[in-house]
Amino acid sequence: MLKSYIEIPPSATLRMNTLALAKKQRGERVYNLSAGEPFLPTDSGVIEAACRAMRAGQTHYPPVLGLPELRRAAAEWMNSTYATAYAPDEVIATCGGKFGLYALCRALLGPGDEALIIAPYWVSYPSLIQLAGASAVTVATAPERGWKASRQDLEQAITPRTRVIIFNNAANPTGVVYHREEIGALLECAAAHDLAVVSDEVYSGLVYDGRIFVSAGSFPEHHGRVFVVQSVSKHFAMTGWRVGFVLGDKGIIESLGVLQSQSTTGTASISQWAATAALAMAPAIMSEVSQKMSERRDALHSALQSTFGGFVAKPASGLYTLAALADLGVKDTASTAFCERLLEQANIALVPGAPFGQEGYVRFSFGEDSAELCAAVRALGEYLKKTRLLV
Ligand SMILES: Cc1ncc(COP(=O)(O)O)c(C=O)c1O
Repeated sequence: MLKSYIEIPPSATLRMNTLALAKKQRGERVYNLSAGEPFLPTDSGVIEAACRAMRAGQTHYPPVLGLPELRRAAAEWMNSTYATAYAPDEVIATCGGKFGLYALCRALLGPGDEALIIAPYWVSYPSLIQLAGASAVTVATAPERGWKASRQDLEQAITPRTRVIIFNNAANPTGVVYHREEIGALLECAAAHDLAVVSDEVYSGLVYDGRIFVSAGSFPEHHGRVFVVQSVSKHFAMTGWRVGFVLGDKGIIESLGVLQSQSTTGTASISQWAATAALAMAPAIMSEVSQKMSERRDALHSALQSTFGGFVAKPASGLYTLAALADLGVKDTASTAFCERLLEQANIALVPGAPFGQEGYVRFSFGEDSAELCAAVRALGEYLKKTRLLV
């Protein structure tokens, strides 16, 4: 019998999405609110650019750190959009933001080290940290405090083994957006303990109602310890192209390149040309995607309100609404069992709160179009009534 040393759980969101897609493939009507992506076509100008690149023979191995054109475009986009000051040689292009996070964990953490993550956290952080041989230490937050962690919360979790803080702003699954002073305080805390900060900003372009997004990379005094993770997946509606970036200290970026040279070799050259084109059209594409996602967020919110009452908060950013099962009127708040039953019996895919470190909650994605979101909430209401799972 062969043994696999991969001893981490599969991504909870991808698992639910895979189960939902398998049902769909069997011809069943599935309401899939599990996937973390905007269901919009990639901009036609981006597709054109990718086709042009292929026709021009750009189909060979790309440079390991990414195409020079893309690294320059990513630095310029961050600098002009979020007031950072990155040079092209402080950027690496990766296979999505996810591989950037994996590479950073491998570079910054070793066996016995600890990394702080703020709950509710993105499902993959604990496993990415574990794959580096380190341990995740959770910093709890509460809805009454807007799901935000303060400097004091971090201070209480820091030990002599802490090396890294993983900070997700704008956050999945809560939609929390931190203000400049709050980010400044967290960075001061990191500096006081000589910690690296991995700032996962892949939802920075999906910030709603006129809110301003502040990058942790825009504090010159902390330039050397902050690593920004970015991606074209979410705000450019390009999940399948698999292009992300890490921006930060040149020496660490080069070491991520070494890891990349011995693992993925980098992301697809065609995708890199597509991402370069997307960045050149960033203001237009980002405002279109964020406008559509804001409308879908509103549609999901009003459907939830009219079905379950006014308890579910409207997220400030991202693609998700995190709802307490109790606020949906559900008696049994074991979220994984609830979501599995819901998919099995009613063909509705949500993601349980437990793998986000927040039991008793479920996550709705609003990446689907508004009609589908409303139909899903209607089906959920009917299912809960029929099965008498309500309080
Ligand atoms: C918080 C967060 N970070 C990073 C990622 C990775 O995205 P990608 O690898 O598509 O860039 C995701 C994807 O869902 C996410 O939600």
